[in-house]
Amino acid sequence: MIAPSLFELACRRRPVARTPVWFMRQAGRYLPEYRAVRRRRSLLQICKQPDLAAEVTLQPVDRLGVDAAIIFADLLLPAEPMGLRLEFVAGEGPLIRNPVRSRSDVEALATNHAADLGYVGEAIRLVRRRLDRRIPVIGFVGAPFTFASYIIEGGASRHFVRTKRMMYGEPALWNRLLGKLLKVLAPYAASQVRAGAAAIQVFDSWAGALSPGDYQRYVLPHSRDLIRRIGRAGVPVIHFSTGVGGYYAMLDQAGADVLSLDWRVELDKAWEAIGHRSAVQGNLDPAALFAPLPELRRQVVDILRRAGGRPGHIFNLGHGILPETPVENVKAVVEMVREFSTR
Ligand code: CP3
Repeated sequence: MIAPSLFELACRRRPVARTPVWFMRQAGRYLPEYRAVRRRRSLLQICKQPDLAAEVTLQPVDRLGVDAAIIFADLLLPAEPMGLRLEFVAGEGPLIRNPVRSRSDVEALATNHAADLGYVGEAIRLVRRRLDRRIPVIGFVGAPFTFASYIIEGGASRHFVRTKRMMYGEPALWNRLLGKLLKVLAPYAASQVRAGAAAIQVFDSWAGALSPGDYQRYVLPHSRDLIRRIGRAGVPVIHFSTGVGGYYAMLDQAGADVLSLDWRVELDKAWEAIGHRSAVQGNLDPAALFAPLPELRRQVVDILRRAGGRPGHIFNLGHGILPETPVENVKAVVEMVREFSTR
């Protein structure tokens, strides 16, 4: 038997010698070695070449000394095997050329080609081999609401008007769409677990655009379904969202093992609001990484103090690392977490 990692123990709310730490978007543009790989290739090319995806996944591991790797992929990759034309446009983010707007668009979505995403599993296997069990690899999928919002809007959105119009005006079609997404996202997550992912993070990045009542009525049942199905694959599930300050307790009802908190809430209060029933991840403001070291240290120590040494805290940001972030500050946070959480 190999001892479970700090990260896996914390996901299961078991005591650990120190708080594990990793960062959302720890691979990416703030790293010069990522920019060097990216210079000659598109984001999709990197994702689809397991060797390159593995290399980029490992870059922050080698440089920062984090306690987990997250596989380099994108939330929207499953759009392609569903028949959607996905592109990433510089400065704009993801674009879907044929967005899902009508009943016939929903009916046209294919749900039986999840195996086309096999390159992600391949990359996870390569990362695992190269890590030689030093640290675990986290897999991830989009949550039904966030995924649906991208393929309905056709890209990023401020007000989610098209998404909400379908949700409110055609609830049967909305449920049909989210049901179809589940048919792809659940097996895709399971394939990542088979490839060796030690946990799956479900990204509901835009859940905070919903009122608590709308979340409960239109989204919670689908998220709960997805999380239950991933849990059956046998690994902990981390449920990420932002801007949901008012209703972490409701998100917790979706059943994940770990709730990822953003910086708009105080970690101790949000943890208390869910009765400490789940582990928590977070919750440093990504912009704090631009602060002078004493201020950064103050914020890191404040989060650790609020976690209070209670089993089940994974240190992370409240959202992903921003592109211009100074690498040495990210590394400094890893060292601070080690220094101030060792028990
Ligand atoms: O290190 C890691 O965290 C793994 C890699 C990762 C990427 N995307 C690669 C990527 C992860 C976990 C994601 C998830 C993702 N993708 C989310 C959920 C997390 C979140 O930030 O809320 C979302 C909403 C997407 C969709 C997406 N992809 C957007 C909105 C953008 C453009 C915005 C941006 O940051 O540029 C992308 C592009 C993208 N995906 C990049 C990376 C590293 C940008 C870098 C590049 O173009 O090379």
